Amino acid sequence: MNKFLFLIFSFQLFITQIYTEQCELTLNDETQLTFNTFLQAKKFCSSTSLPTKNTRRIILTGRLVDYTTRCKRSITDANIEIIHIQSDLRSVCHELHHPDSRGYYTLSTSVTIPSTEQLFLRITSPGYETVLKEIIIPSSEKRQKNIILKWQIALTPSQEQIETYQQQQGRMDSTIDDLMSKMTLEEKIGQLNLVTVGFDVTGPIVSENVDENIRLGRIGGVFNTFTPKAVRPLQELAMNHTRLRIPLIFGYDVIHGHRTIFPISLGMSTTWDMASIETSARIAAQEATADGLNWVFSPMVDIARDARWGRISEGAGEDPWLGSQIAAAMIRGYQGSDLTQSNTAMACVKHFALYGGGEAGRDYNTVDMSRITMYQYFLAPYRAAIDAGAGSVMTSFNEVDSVPASANRWLLQDLLREQWKFNGFVVTDYTSINEMVDHGIGDLQEVSARALDAGVDMDMVGEGFLRTLNKSYSEGKIKEQIINQACRRILEAKYKLGLFDDPYRYCDDSRPDTDIFTNENRLAARDFARRSFVLLKTDRKTLPLARSNLKIALIGPLSDDHRNLIGSWSAAGDWRQSVSVREGINKLVGNQTQILYAKGSNLVEDEYMLKQLNAHGGEIELDQRTPEQMIAEAVEISTRSDVIVAVVGESQGMTGEAASRVDIGLPECQKRLLKALFDTGKPVVIVLMNGRPMTLTWEQEHAAAILETWFAGTEAGNAIADVLFGYYNPAGKLTTTFPQHVGQIPLYYNHKNTGRPFNASQFTDKYKSRYLDIPNEPLYPFGYGLSYTTFNFSSINVDKTELHGDSDRLTVRVLIRNTGAYSGEEVIQLYISDPAASVTRAVRELKNFKKIYLRSQQSEEISFVITTEDLKFYNTNLDYVWEEGDFIIHVGPDSVNTQSIRVKWLK
Ligand code: NOJ
Repeated sequence: MNKFLFLIFSFQLFITQIYTEQCELTLNDETQLTFNTFLQAKKFCSSTSLPTKNTRRIILTGRLVDYTTRCKRSITDANIEIIHIQSDLRSVCHELHHPDSRGYYTLSTSVTIPSTEQLFLRITSPGYETVLKEIIIPSSEKRQKNIILKWQIALTPSQEQIETYQQQQGRMDSTIDDLMSKMTLEEKIGQLNLVTVGFDVTGPIVSENVDENIRLGRIGGVFNTFTPKAVRPLQELAMNHTRLRIPLIFGYDVIHGHRTIFPISLGMSTTWDMASIETSARIAAQEATADGLNWVFSPMVDIARDARWGRISEGAGEDPWLGSQIAAAMIRGYQGSDLTQSNTAMACVKHFALYGGGEAGRDYNTVDMSRITMYQYFLAPYRAAIDAGAGSVMTSFNEVDSVPASANRWLLQDLLREQWKFNGFVVTDYTSINEMVDHGIGDLQEVSARALDAGVDMDMVGEGFLRTLNKSYSEGKIKEQIINQACRRILEAKYKLGLFDDPYRYCDDSRPDTDIFTNENRLAARDFARRSFVLLKTDRKTLPLARSNLKIALIGPLSDDHRNLIGSWSAAGDWRQSVSVREGINKLVGNQTQILYAKGSNLVEDEYMLKQLNAHGGEIELDQRTPEQMIAEAVEISTRSDVIVAVVGESQGMTGEAASRVDIGLPECQKRLLKALFDTGKPVVIVLMNGRPMTLTWEQEHAAAILETWFAGTEAGNAIADVLFGYYNPAGKLTTTFPQHVGQIPLYYNHKNTGRPFNASQFTDKYKSRYLDIPNEPLYPFGYGLSYTTFNFSSINVDKTELHGDSDRLTVRVLIRNTGAYSGEEVIQLYISDPAASVTRAVRELKNFKKIYLRSQQSEEISFVITTEDLKFYNTNLDYVWEEGDFIIHVGPDSVNTQSIRVKWLK
């Protein structure tokens, strides 16, 4: 028997009913699934291919846990497949799922009763024995329309893996022990030093004497240098000219793609598509490692509630639950299941912690929040990234509880290492240690010692460690053991990346040609971009545009732009490779439609802003013509057209690091242009490019349609054309709230109710939590996004209204119907409120979602299974608990337009 099959059959299966709370093992079934049969099961299974009569839906739900930790540790990196095998073997198919960031899975499939197929569950997780189990429907359940099987599945590490792991651990320990026994204190401190050299400057100062310092063993890693050509000589210096020949680690800001640039991270989050998000990180790692790198400064998982903060563009928005799913998907994508592979890179989750909570949305500003708010709303995504195996963590610039993150022992030791069991290494952000002098907690020697003592292992750029640790040691201010520990963690990272086996593993000169900017990568970029777009407004007439016999006025400073499309933090991205909207449209429909073009206005005219943007690579050139001349040209072509497509927004430099703004509307010059276009009376489709939620109340009133496209990356123009002409029906949903007015900020959906909530129907009520001049509501809420089609949600259904204890499960069902003329996708969102608890809770919190595709007039029943895990929150002791009482379940297409049902859940 083939080795693969042998392994499958000899593996053991351990399944316990989730509600028993036991951690028990049962044996793998004696299944007769042959290898050939499995190979046939590669076709994606759609439930519509099954007969419609006598079908039942099987819902499998539960959690994947590690048996060896007494089922305490959840397994997040796994493929869960349902494999159908029909008797004729021709209609074999399978479905693939992943557990969420806490190990929970819910998957469903349709079967016919009496069953014409055999069903199997197969779970593969790196390092664990494969589980292969026949799904047998209990006869008592066969009459139910929905058959729910609740399984906690305990996986055991495979013997092979245990041995490999022990051997690897043993080899790693002895290699490092051996090496460290030869290292001087200076050499150990050298490993803790990360320098920047090469192509990019991503902070206020740059490192000097890098070659010399490498030779002297005073550098552990380098960032901002890439390409095998540039990396190899530096690695050669370390390997050929240092006493101990310790390889360097090479890091870089690979944020939303490496060379092939995907939508900015905020845009990727609006796809609500974990498979795309994971794949985007996988491709980025593939390209980055082909380019000499092995360490990526991503994912950025800071929760942000303030649209003024420029770095809101870099994260996944305001929701901790969704942010956690995304964080885990990114880690899986970058690191794969084996870091020693030459196409996987070590991830660095950042910025730990709470960087998104800066006062007034000003970058690097003070953060001040209660512990309970941290735990409840801000920390979850970092934790999810750690649980998913992130190899490194970057500290943030801000303070946490009045101690800067880079010297915060509670944060780096108690929380990160003790509570969360993080075993990778911690690097500071750029010169964070030095900046603690300005924070006001000591001089360079003092803050460097505090950082090391708090748990920082590597010092980015500032050289505080390099210059002062030796002195602090000789003055008895720090112990050698702490330097050893930090050094060991850096060496371990290098070991895990396979650099001790082959320091040139990531310096293959042939890979850039084969792995970077491939057609596949560009196609993926186009697809992710389309998925990230959010249709904010539609009059249901104008979009999608007719593909022929249409005269289009394509107008706006971003309509033929390349420079801005790849957004900020597109470090190795080359904007010259990007496709402009004009090019995309011309290529797609240029020979059937007439496209008239006018720039219409400058991107920005405000001198104060312009000066700063251009000082940092903005490349914004003012047009030779006067604003009036530009507008006149735009109006002239508009009057000769059927429809106006106005591509407007921010420049890429207006968001990102050090790019906070208090006015988050469109620049005035663009508004003047839009006003003139609206005045023509022609329908105006606004295509927005920007990196933050903007204030668009006036635009919402006048435009026929608004398509939010963020900064969509290398393939922006093609993707926008696809959507404008209906080759792809937009389905993105916002992950940040768009305010009506900047004065409402911070504005987020999961806010508290307060003791005086305002009810708009009692408009003149005075002593309520409200503004006198505008409503409390946002312009576009979290989760919002339209489609060219329409979806109808049936009222929601629950299988019970009173539940008891941890083992109970609530199944919520809703029927979704595509009632419009186009096929499309919808994101069905599930929120829970806890109206009475021992601490105040958010008015509602996202707990799950499903994204489905429906053809016109097609319907699908969606079900969610709710467990007590979904009811949990942090109480005043910071215990993660659920309390009995009433809960309100809301389901809908966004966080506001939901249908609700109340249930009681008792202990
Ligand atoms: C500063 C930024 O805050 C961080 O996100 C980035 O990774 C580093 N610079 C390195 O460029």
